[in-house]
Amino acid sequence: MTPQNHQTSLSFHEPVMVREALELWFRSPDGIYVDGTLGSGGHTAALLKRLSPEGHIVGMDIDPNAIAYCQQRFATELQQGRLRLIRANFRQACEVLHDLKGKVQGFLLDLGLSWHQVDTPERGFTFRARGPLDMRFGPDSPQTAEALLAAASEEELASLLRRYGEEPRARVLARRIVQRRRSTPLRTTADLRAVVEEVVPPPHRLKSLARVFQALRIAVNDELGALREALECAPHLLAPTGRIVVISYHSLEDRIVKEMFRQSFASNMPLLRILTPKPLRPSAEEIQQNPRARSARLRAAERLP
Ligand SMILES: C[S@@+](CC[C@H](N)C(=O)[O-])C[C@H]1O[C@@H](n2cnc3c(N)ncnc32)[C@H](O)[C@@H]1O
Repeated sequence: MTPQNHQTSLSFHEPVMVREALELWFRSPDGIYVDGTLGSGGHTAALLKRLSPEGHIVGMDIDPNAIAYCQQRFATELQQGRLRLIRANFRQACEVLHDLKGKVQGFLLDLGLSWHQVDTPERGFTFRARGPLDMRFGPDSPQTAEALLAAASEEELASLLRRYGEEPRARVLARRIVQRRRSTPLRTTADLRAVVEEVVPPPHRLKSLARVFQALRIAVNDELGALREALECAPHLLAPTGRIVVISYHSLEDRIVKEMFRQSFASNMPLLRILTPKPLRPSAEEIQQNPRARSARLRAAERLP
């Protein structure tokens, strides 16, 4: 995938809520900014347009493909020193960016997956195509979905499907996975899909498949743990009145963002002021143009001086 394909049906990604995110993320033209989930660099590209030659963005992504794509897309800005790309997990932002502590004007997290990840069957994120049960955002995640499905106990599987997928048939699905793997290991997305289809009647299948695949992806990448660590670290990176902006795509993530902003606001030494008492949602027009935006919720908070 090259940057030239960007606006075609094979897009790497179509950024979500760019206008709303930019309004909160952008502070001053010569500030320092972090994009913790670079993807195809859609948000970064929009911010770069607002920055002066002094302004600077650090783009992070755990996926080497996203970094490689952006190296091409932003060759000029990289050469000019206006952008730095780092392949790392955003949960390590405070370690990786320790030189920026107290200096960042805006920190953006646009959670979840890029289109490129979903639409590449070899990554194993989609039940709509056959591929290996990988589901790792990056090669350094500790285990693949295949390894997790082979090693987890029935209780662990049931709990994971319930907690991360809110799947009502979690217990019976977990039992069937364990029965199935005794004879044949689950290796591909089609193997997992077949187990779900054995258990769930046709009218509910697509929803269950989406929930099961979501639950595994969250577990494989420890997505909620990574989000918590990033939100703990972010206020320490921010300059006074600097902002953290988070776009999330399911209620578990949004709840964590809401609660962590509130805790920080309500503590004895509040670090953040909440800017979005209610999450912002994409416009009807955006959802019509990009249905994958429909579940997005954006929250933002500001570092108190
Ligand atoms: C929704 S996409 C971001 C899209 C981006 N805003 C754009 O405009 O193209 C999410 C990206 O975050 C990355 N990602 C997910 N979890 C991550 C983590 N813990 N650390 C770093 N990157 C992560 C994924 O690899 C993916 O590229």
